[in-house]
Amino acid sequence: MKNGFVIFLAAFAVLASSWGAFVLAPQLQLGGAKQVTVLNSTDVYPASRPGEAAQGLQIYRANGCAACHTEQVQQDGVACDVVLSSAGKNPSVVSNLISTLKLEGITEEAAQAAADQITAAGGKVETHILATGPDIARGWGLRHSVAEDFLYDYPVQLGGLRIGPDLADVGRRLPDANWQLLHLYAPKSVVKGSLMPPFRYLFETKKIGSTPSPDALNLPKEFAPAAGYEVVPKPEAKHLAAYLLSLHADVPLYDAPFTQLSASTNAPANKP
Ligand code: HEC
Repeated sequence: MKNGFVIFLAAFAVLASSWGAFVLAPQLQLGGAKQVTVLNSTDVYPASRPGEAAQGLQIYRANGCAACHTEQVQQDGVACDVVLSSAGKNPSVVSNLISTLKLEGITEEAAQAAADQITAAGGKVETHILATGPDIARGWGLRHSVAEDFLYDYPVQLGGLRIGPDLADVGRRLPDANWQLLHLYAPKSVVKGSLMPPFRYLFETKKIGSTPSPDALNLPKEFAPAAGYEVVPKPEAKHLAAYLLSLHADVPLYDAPFTQLSASTNAPANKP
């Protein structure tokens, strides 16, 4: 073994460099991550998840939801809309000018140039920044995910496969806890033809006592239990629903800017 020392050094170098790349470098990049300030505001982001939602993260993990769902919205870039807020003293001049300009879905430079022209003609404009890309177009988020979105999550449930929709922002999209519970108990009861498996064991079917439980599910006939019985969520189901409602990635940040428009924009029309 006269080359023993060389082999040791080579093995050491390989292990040390992979440790550096996979452990040390991410730790240096993200280990010190902390709350950031929301764009154009003094609020900090994110707030830690409330207790029930933090417990729900463990239910999400234990049930393998991340096998079918991601929590990472991707984005290609941004597009700008230039919106007239006041036509000023010469509205006809401004409206003539506007009819010659492209003002929607343009680059930042084009938006700045258009804004300069309109301002020179006496009008006032606002520039709206919108994130673009397939995930955004599906309504899965208002911006791409950033490391801070997961600051208080352990383990982080990024997921790698999308059998179902991305859930990074599902709390904004589907903010009704009852809908979430019905969907977990019987996905087909709220989404026609849903391929998601039901999670019935998170619920209990029991005989109705002297009065029905206040949190019994209001199921459509074909999913309802036998007469005299009711379906009530176990604490696990409630925690999971609280976690889903806590999934919000909807504030603009320095790393991921966008203009906040009314809350209803982007909400799918067929869901609550
Ligand atoms: C076998 C794959 C699979 C698993 C496992 C799975 N889902 Fe789904 N999920 C889907 C599919 C497919 C859809 C789309 C159809 C629908 O909305 O029911 C969906 C939809 C959803 C939606 C509605 C999202 C939207 O934007 O409409 C939520 C919320 C959701 N799942 C939560 C969960 C949770 C929580 C778990 C774990 C308890 C889970 N899913 C496990 C496949 C899965």
